[in-house]
Amino acid sequence: MKVMVLKKLDSILKNRKKSSCELIEVLQDVQGAYNYLPEEVLRIVSERLEVPLIEVFRVANFYKAFTLKPRGKHLLMVCTGTACHVRGAPKFLDEVLGLLNVKPGETTKDNELTIETVNCLGACALGPIVVLDGKYYDHMTTGKLRALIQKTRKKPAKSRKRK
Ligand code: FES
Repeated sequence: MKVMVLKKLDSILKNRKKSSCELIEVLQDVQGAYNYLPEEVLRIVSERLEVPLIEVFRVANFYKAFTLKPRGKHLLMVCTGTACHVRGAPKFLDEVLGLLNVKPGETTKDNELTIETVNCLGACALGPIVVLDGKYYDHMTTGKLRALIQKTRKKPAKSRKRK
């Protein structure tokens, strides 16, 4: 594993207790630093925190916020919950997936954008809702989403690292 990769991890694990209580926070920091949870890194986290590897993977798989697959520079989450569904989310989701030639959970070939679907973002009255790089956009339409994606692909990614 590259030295830079290990340096990042050393800084994340610095001053952490050897305990499963630290696990979720460490995984959040790892995902913020690497943009996903690389297997090699999870193995080191398991050793350093003295948490069984199976428990590390259980937590990593349980929370939708974590991903074991690399993501693009930008993350677009489209709500496909009931309220957003009846307000047209499937229509603009299908169009955007076709335009970008990806399926939900995949990343565009240029590694710019990952599109994921979620069941409810807790803002049903404002639906359809999408979240791009952590920012919520309400009353989404196909045209608004297309414009948002076009604008985003020209911008550098914001760090998704937790503060
Ligand atoms: S169903 Fe989309 S925010 Fe609740």
